[in-house]
Amino acid sequence: ELKAFDDTKDGVKGLVDASVTKIPRMFYHEFNKDSSSTSSNITKLDVPTIDLVDIHQDPTTRKIVVEKIREASEKWGFFQIVNHGIEVSVLDEMKNGVIRFFEQDSEVKRELYSREPSRPFIYTSNFDLYNSPAANWRDTFYCIMAPKSPKPEDLPSVCRDIILEYTKQVMKLGNVLFELLSEALGLNPNYLNEMRCNEGHAIVCNYYPSCPEPELTLGLTKHTDDDFITMLLQDHIGGLQVLHENSWVDVSPVPGALVINIGDLLQVIFIEINFDALSLITNDKFKSVEHRVVANHVGPRVSVANFYSTSYQPSTRLYGPIKELLSEDNPPKYKETTVQNFVEFSMGKGLDGTSALPYFK
Ligand code: SIN
Ligand code: FE2
Repeated sequence: ELKAFDDTKDGVKGLVDASVTKIPRMFYHEFNKDSSSTSSNITKLDVPTIDLVDIHQDPTTRKIVVEKIREASEKWGFFQIVNHGIEVSVLDEMKNGVIRFFEQDSEVKRELYSREPSRPFIYTSNFDLYNSPAANWRDTFYCIMAPKSPKPEDLPSVCRDIILEYTKQVMKLGNVLFELLSEALGLNPNYLNEMRCNEGHAIVCNYYPSCPEPELTLGLTKHTDDDFITMLLQDHIGGLQVLHENSWVDVSPVPGALVINIGDLLQVIFIEINFDALSLITNDKFKSVEHRVVANHVGPRVSVANFYSTSYQPSTRLYGPIKELLSEDNPPKYKETTVQNFVEFSMGKGLDGTSALPYFK
Protein backbone atom coordinates (compact mmCIF):
# COMPACT_ATOMS: atom_id res chain seq x y z
CA GLU A 1 0.00 0.00 0.00
CA LEU A 2 1.32 3.45 -0.95
CA LYS A 3 1.66 5.94 1.85
CA ALA A 4 1.36 9.60 0.84
CA PHE A 5 4.48 11.64 1.42
CA ASP A 6 4.15 14.43 3.94
CA ASP A 7 7.69 15.78 4.06
CA THR A 8 6.95 17.97 7.07
CA LYS A 9 6.31 14.87 9.11
CA ASP A 10 9.66 13.17 9.21
CA GLY A 11 11.01 13.35 5.67
CA VAL A 12 11.91 10.27 3.67
CA LYS A 13 13.24 8.74 6.88
CA GLY A 14 9.66 8.89 8.19
CA LEU A 15 8.47 6.69 5.30
CA VAL A 16 11.17 4.14 6.00
CA ASP A 17 10.42 4.19 9.73
CA ALA A 18 6.79 3.47 8.82
CA SER A 19 8.08 0.40 6.90
CA VAL A 20 6.74 1.29 3.45
CA THR A 21 7.44 -1.46 0.92
CA LYS A 22 6.40 0.60 -2.11
CA ILE A 23 7.71 4.11 -2.69
CA PRO A 24 5.21 6.93 -3.45
CA ARG A 25 4.85 7.78 -7.14
CA MET A 26 6.35 11.22 -6.76
CA PHE A 27 9.72 9.51 -6.20
CA TYR A 28 9.63 7.68 -9.56
CA HIS A 29 12.37 8.87 -11.90
CA GLU A 30 12.11 8.44 -15.66
CA PHE A 31 15.17 6.46 -16.58
CA ASN A 32 14.07 5.41 -20.05
CA LYS A 33 14.29 8.98 -21.43
CA ASP A 34 17.96 9.17 -20.66
CA SER A 35 20.12 6.31 -21.85
CA SER A 36 23.04 7.46 -19.71
CA SER A 37 20.90 6.93 -16.64
CA THR A 38 20.66 3.17 -16.91
CA SER A 39 22.91 1.39 -14.52
CA SER A 40 23.90 -1.28 -17.05
CA ASN A 41 26.76 0.81 -18.38
CA ILE A 42 28.55 1.39 -15.10
CA THR A 43 32.27 1.31 -15.77
CA LYS A 44 34.90 -0.16 -13.52
CA LEU A 45 37.10 2.97 -13.76
CA ASP A 46 37.37 5.23 -10.74
CA VAL A 47 38.15 8.93 -10.33
CA PRO A 48 41.81 9.58 -9.43
CA THR A 49 42.86 9.66 -5.78
CA ILE A 50 45.58 12.24 -5.15
CA ASP A 51 47.89 12.19 -2.11
CA LEU A 52 48.60 15.69 -0.77
CA VAL A 53 51.33 14.57 1.63
CA ASP A 54 54.43 16.84 1.57
CA ILE A 55 53.04 19.44 -0.83
CA HIS A 56 54.14 22.18 1.58
CA GLN A 57 57.62 20.75 2.12
CA ASP A 58 58.68 19.37 -1.21
CA PRO A 59 58.41 21.42 -4.44
CA THR A 60 58.90 18.35 -6.63
CA THR A 61 55.99 16.52 -4.97
CA ARG A 62 53.90 19.65 -5.27
CA LYS A 63 54.56 19.86 -9.00
CA ILE A 64 53.49 16.26 -9.46
CA VAL A 65 50.33 16.85 -7.40
CA VAL A 66 49.47 19.99 -9.39
CA GLU A 67 49.85 18.03 -12.62
CA LYS A 68 47.56 15.26 -11.31
CA ILE A 69 44.95 17.83 -10.28
CA ARG A 70 45.11 19.45 -13.72
CA GLU A 71 44.63 16.13 -15.43
CA ALA A 72 41.78 15.01 -13.16
CA SER A 73 40.02 18.40 -13.45
CA GLU A 74 40.10 18.20 -17.22
CA LYS A 75 39.31 14.53 -17.69
CA TRP A 76 36.91 13.92 -14.84
CA GLY A 77 35.97 17.19 -13.15
CA PHE A 78 36.35 15.04 -10.02
CA PHE A 79 39.15 13.71 -7.83
CA GLN A 80 39.61 12.40 -4.31
CA ILE A 81 42.28 13.67 -1.92
CA VAL A 82 44.03 11.88 0.94
CA ASN A 83 46.50 13.29 3.49
CA HIS A 84 44.62 16.57 3.15
CA GLY A 85 45.23 17.61 6.76
CA ILE A 86 41.77 17.02 8.24
CA GLU A 87 42.00 14.35 10.94
CA VAL A 88 39.98 11.16 10.54
CA SER A 89 38.49 11.79 14.00
CA VAL A 90 37.05 15.09 12.74
CA LEU A 91 35.62 13.41 9.63
CA ASP A 92 34.07 10.66 11.74
CA GLU A 93 32.59 13.11 14.21
CA MET A 94 31.12 15.14 11.34
CA LYS A 95 29.36 12.04 9.94
CA ASN A 96 28.20 11.11 13.45
CA GLY A 97 26.83 14.62 13.94
CA VAL A 98 24.72 14.23 10.79
CA ILE A 99 23.37 10.89 12.02
CA ARG A 100 22.61 12.39 15.45
CA PHE A 101 20.67 15.20 13.80
CA PHE A 102 18.49 13.01 11.59
CA GLU A 103 17.94 10.35 14.23
CA GLN A 104 16.67 12.68 16.92
CA ASP A 105 12.95 12.94 17.68
CA SER A 106 10.87 14.11 14.76
CA GLU A 107 9.26 16.75 17.03
CA VAL A 108 12.65 18.38 17.56
CA LYS A 109 13.46 18.28 13.86
CA ARG A 110 10.08 19.65 12.86
CA GLU A 111 10.91 22.93 14.59
CA LEU A 112 13.74 23.36 12.10
CA TYR A 113 11.77 22.19 9.07
CA SER A 114 11.49 24.89 6.40
CA ARG A 115 11.70 25.59 2.70
CA GLU A 116 12.18 29.31 3.32
CA PRO A 117 15.70 30.21 2.08
CA SER A 118 16.15 33.16 4.46
CA ARG A 119 16.20 30.90 7.53
CA PRO A 120 19.70 30.49 8.99
CA PHE A 121 19.40 26.70 9.30
CA ILE A 122 17.11 24.64 7.11
CA TYR A 123 16.04 21.03 7.55
CA THR A 124 14.03 19.73 4.65
CA SER A 125 13.57 16.65 2.56
CA ASN A 126 13.58 17.93 -1.01
CA PHE A 127 14.15 21.71 -1.26
CA ASP A 128 12.49 21.62 -4.69
CA LEU A 129 9.72 19.12 -3.87
CA TYR A 130 6.99 20.97 -5.77
CA ASN A 131 8.96 22.22 -8.78
CA SER A 132 11.08 19.26 -9.80
CA PRO A 133 9.88 16.40 -12.02
CA ALA A 134 10.71 13.72 -9.42
CA ALA A 135 11.50 13.69 -5.73
CA ASN A 136 14.74 12.29 -4.33
CA TRP A 137 15.14 9.58 -1.72
CA ARG A 138 17.00 11.78 0.75
CA ASP A 139 16.64 14.18 3.62
CA THR A 140 18.88 17.20 4.03
CA PHE A 141 19.87 20.07 6.23
CA TYR A 142 21.90 23.06 5.14
CA CYS A 143 23.32 26.26 6.44
CA ILE A 144 25.36 29.16 5.04
CA MET A 145 28.53 29.34 7.13
CA ALA A 146 30.52 32.21 5.58
CA PRO A 147 31.32 35.01 5.10
CA LYS A 148 28.64 35.66 7.71
CA SER A 149 28.64 32.82 10.19
CA PRO A 150 25.37 31.74 11.81
CA LYS A 151 24.72 32.54 15.44
CA PRO A 152 25.72 29.45 17.46
CA GLU A 153 22.17 29.20 18.82
CA ASP A 154 20.87 28.85 15.24
CA LEU A 155 22.71 25.54 14.90
CA PRO A 156 21.19 22.38 16.43
CA SER A 157 22.93 21.41 19.64
CA VAL A 158 23.47 17.77 18.55
CA CYS A 159 25.93 18.84 15.85
CA ARG A 160 26.76 22.52 16.54
CA ASP A 161 30.36 22.08 17.71
CA ILE A 162 31.40 19.77 14.93
CA ILE A 163 29.78 21.91 12.21
CA LEU A 164 31.76 24.92 13.44
CA GLU A 165 35.02 22.99 13.76
CA TYR A 166 34.61 21.16 10.44
CA THR A 167 33.82 24.38 8.58
CA LYS A 168 36.94 26.03 9.98
CA GLN A 169 39.06 23.18 8.66
CA VAL A 170 37.24 23.02 5.33
CA MET A 171 37.94 26.73 4.73
CA LYS A 172 41.61 26.31 5.63
CA LEU A 173 41.90 23.39 3.23
CA GLY A 174 40.06 25.50 0.63
CA ASN A 175 42.96 27.97 0.56
CA VAL A 176 45.35 25.13 -0.25
CA LEU A 177 43.05 23.67 -2.91
CA PHE A 178 42.57 27.00 -4.68
CA GLU A 179 46.36 27.51 -4.66
CA LEU A 180 46.83 24.12 -6.27
CA LEU A 181 44.03 24.73 -8.79
CA SER A 182 45.52 28.15 -9.68
CA GLU A 183 48.88 26.50 -10.25
CA ALA A 184 47.19 23.79 -12.30
CA LEU A 185 45.83 26.55 -14.58
CA GLY A 186 49.29 28.09 -14.90
CA LEU A 187 48.34 31.09 -12.76
CA ASN A 188 49.87 32.78 -9.76
CA PRO A 189 49.10 30.54 -6.74
CA ASN A 190 47.01 33.29 -5.10
CA TYR A 191 44.87 33.92 -8.16
CA LEU A 192 41.70 32.03 -7.22
CA ASN A 193 41.85 32.98 -3.55
CA GLU A 194 42.14 36.64 -4.59
CA MET A 195 39.10 36.10 -6.82
CA ARG A 196 37.30 35.24 -3.57
CA CYS A 197 36.56 31.65 -4.54
CA ASN A 198 36.98 30.70 -0.87
CA GLU A 199 34.84 33.46 0.62
CA GLY A 200 31.33 32.01 0.73
CA HIS A 201 30.54 28.65 2.26
CA ALA A 202 27.45 26.50 2.53
CA ILE A 203 27.33 23.14 4.24
CA VAL A 204 24.77 20.59 3.01
CA CYS A 205 24.33 17.41 5.05
CA ASN A 206 22.55 14.48 3.44
CA TYR A 207 20.86 11.44 4.91
CA TYR A 208 19.84 8.81 2.35
CA PRO A 209 17.62 6.22 4.07
CA SER A 210 17.53 2.64 2.83
CA CYS A 211 15.09 2.30 -0.05
CA PRO A 212 12.67 -0.58 -0.68
CA GLU A 213 12.59 0.04 -4.46
CA PRO A 214 15.93 1.62 -5.35
CA GLU A 215 15.68 0.89 -9.07
CA LEU A 216 12.66 3.24 -9.39
CA THR A 217 14.19 6.33 -7.82
CA LEU A 218 17.41 8.19 -7.08
CA GLY A 219 19.06 9.51 -3.95
CA LEU A 220 19.89 12.65 -5.90
CA THR A 221 18.97 13.65 -9.46
CA LYS A 222 21.85 14.21 -11.86
CA HIS A 223 23.11 17.79 -11.69
CA THR A 224 26.17 19.99 -11.78
CA ASP A 225 27.13 22.19 -8.82
CA ASP A 226 26.58 25.96 -9.02
CA ASP A 227 29.79 26.90 -7.18
CA PHE A 228 33.56 27.08 -7.79
CA ILE A 229 34.31 23.71 -6.20
CA THR A 230 32.53 21.30 -3.87
CA MET A 231 34.16 19.12 -1.24
CA LEU A 232 32.30 15.97 -0.26
CA LEU A 233 32.72 13.70 2.71
CA GLN A 234 30.96 10.38 2.14
CA ASP A 235 30.64 7.31 4.31
CA HIS A 236 31.51 3.71 3.36
CA ILE A 237 28.23 2.86 1.58
CA GLY A 238 28.73 4.46 -1.82
CA GLY A 239 26.16 5.58 -4.38
CA LEU A 240 27.74 8.72 -5.81
CA GLN A 241 28.31 8.41 -9.55
CA VAL A 242 29.93 10.76 -12.04
CA LEU A 243 29.17 10.94 -15.77
CA HIS A 244 32.40 10.10 -17.58
CA GLU A 245 32.54 9.58 -21.34
CA ASN A 246 28.79 8.99 -21.31
CA SER A 247 28.84 6.29 -18.63
CA TRP A 248 28.06 6.49 -14.96
CA VAL A 249 31.16 5.71 -12.93
CA ASP A 250 31.05 5.00 -9.20
CA VAL A 251 33.03 7.33 -6.96
CA SER A 252 34.09 4.55 -4.60
CA PRO A 253 34.44 5.42 -0.93
CA VAL A 254 38.12 5.66 0.07
CA PRO A 255 38.69 5.68 3.85
CA GLY A 256 39.80 9.13 5.05
CA ALA A 257 39.40 10.70 1.62
CA LEU A 258 37.49 13.79 0.56
CA VAL A 259 35.95 14.10 -2.91
CA ILE A 260 36.54 17.36 -4.81
CA ASN A 261 34.57 18.39 -7.86
CA ILE A 262 34.73 21.37 -10.20
CA GLY A 263 31.60 23.54 -10.19
CA ASP A 264 29.90 25.69 -12.86
CA LEU A 265 31.60 28.93 -11.78
CA LEU A 266 35.10 27.55 -12.22
CA GLN A 267 34.15 26.24 -15.63
CA VAL A 268 32.80 29.64 -16.69
CA ILE A 269 35.70 31.79 -15.59
CA PHE A 270 38.33 29.51 -17.06
CA ILE A 271 36.76 28.30 -20.21
CA GLU A 272 38.60 31.01 -22.17
CA ILE A 273 41.94 30.52 -20.49
CA ASN A 274 42.29 27.16 -22.09
CA PHE A 275 42.02 28.72 -25.53
CA ASP A 276 44.28 31.67 -25.01
CA ALA A 277 46.73 31.82 -22.15
CA LEU A 278 47.33 28.14 -22.02
CA SER A 279 47.19 27.21 -25.63
CA LEU A 280 48.97 23.96 -24.86
CA ILE A 281 45.81 22.62 -23.30
CA THR A 282 43.35 23.85 -25.91
CA ASN A 283 40.10 21.92 -25.68
CA ASP A 284 40.99 20.48 -22.31
CA LYS A 285 38.84 22.44 -19.95
CA PHE A 286 38.11 22.19 -16.29
CA LYS A 287 34.66 20.70 -16.38
CA SER A 288 31.69 21.00 -14.11
CA VAL A 289 30.64 17.40 -14.52
CA GLU A 290 27.23 15.83 -13.97
CA HIS A 291 26.86 13.55 -11.01
CA ARG A 292 24.04 11.79 -9.14
CA VAL A 293 23.43 9.48 -6.21
CA VAL A 294 21.71 6.13 -6.73
CA ALA A 295 19.28 4.81 -4.13
CA ASN A 296 20.17 1.65 -2.25
CA HIS A 297 18.57 -1.15 -0.26
CA VAL A 298 21.34 -0.49 2.26
CA GLY A 299 21.21 2.60 4.41
CA PRO A 300 21.24 5.17 5.75
CA ARG A 301 24.08 6.66 3.73
CA VAL A 302 25.43 9.93 5.05
CA SER A 303 27.33 12.63 3.15
CA VAL A 304 28.46 16.19 3.83
CA ALA A 305 28.90 18.59 0.90
CA ASN A 306 30.70 21.91 1.33
CA PHE A 307 30.11 24.48 -1.39
CA TYR A 308 32.92 26.97 -2.02
CA SER A 309 31.63 30.12 -3.60
CA THR A 310 31.89 33.87 -3.26
CA SER A 311 29.68 35.58 -0.75
CA TYR A 312 26.06 34.47 -0.89
CA GLN A 313 25.18 37.94 0.37
CA PRO A 314 24.00 40.42 -2.27
CA SER A 315 27.03 41.76 -4.14
CA THR A 316 27.49 43.73 -7.36
CA ARG A 317 30.71 41.92 -8.22
CA LEU A 318 30.38 40.32 -11.65
CA TYR A 319 31.78 36.95 -12.65
CA GLY A 320 32.34 35.78 -16.19
CA PRO A 321 35.19 34.93 -18.54
CA ILE A 322 38.37 36.73 -17.52
CA LYS A 323 38.72 40.00 -19.49
CA GLU A 324 42.47 39.92 -20.06
CA LEU A 325 42.03 36.75 -22.01
CA LEU A 326 39.37 37.93 -24.42
CA SER A 327 39.99 39.24 -27.92
CA GLU A 328 38.16 39.55 -31.23
CA ASP A 329 39.31 36.06 -32.13
CA ASN A 330 38.42 34.79 -28.72
CA PRO A 331 35.06 36.32 -27.84
CA PRO A 332 33.41 35.53 -24.52
CA LYS A 333 31.26 32.39 -24.52
CA TYR A 334 29.47 33.44 -21.39
CA LYS A 335 28.04 36.73 -20.14
CA GLU A 336 28.85 38.21 -16.78
CA THR A 337 26.52 37.90 -13.83
CA THR A 338 26.58 38.19 -10.08
CA VAL A 339 26.93 34.96 -8.21
CA GLN A 340 23.79 35.78 -6.26
CA ASN A 341 21.68 36.00 -9.45
CA PHE A 342 23.17 32.79 -10.78
CA VAL A 343 22.55 30.87 -7.57
CA GLU A 344 19.00 32.23 -7.32
CA PHE A 345 18.34 30.97 -10.84
CA SER A 346 19.89 27.61 -10.10
CA MET A 347 17.96 27.07 -6.86
CA GLY A 348 14.69 28.30 -8.44
CA LYS A 349 15.09 25.87 -11.31
CA GLY A 350 15.43 22.99 -8.85
CA LEU A 351 16.85 19.57 -9.61
CA ASP A 352 15.31 18.95 -13.02
CA GLY A 353 18.25 17.07 -14.48
CA THR A 354 19.63 20.04 -16.45
CA SER A 355 22.66 22.25 -15.87
CA ALA A 356 22.29 25.88 -14.73
CA LEU A 357 25.19 26.96 -16.98
CA PRO A 358 22.99 28.20 -19.87
CA TYR A 359 22.10 31.08 -17.53
CA PHE A 360 25.46 32.59 -18.53
CA LYS A 361 24.64 32.44 -22.25
C1 SIN B 1 25.94 16.29 -3.97
O1 SIN B 1 26.19 16.10 -5.16
O2 SIN B 1 25.69 17.41 -3.56
C2 SIN B 1 25.93 15.19 -2.94
C3 SIN B 1 26.51 13.93 -3.42
C4 SIN B 1 26.53 12.84 -2.41
O3 SIN B 1 25.75 12.82 -1.44
O4 SIN B 1 27.35 11.93 -2.58
FE1 FE2 C 1 26.51 17.97 -6.33
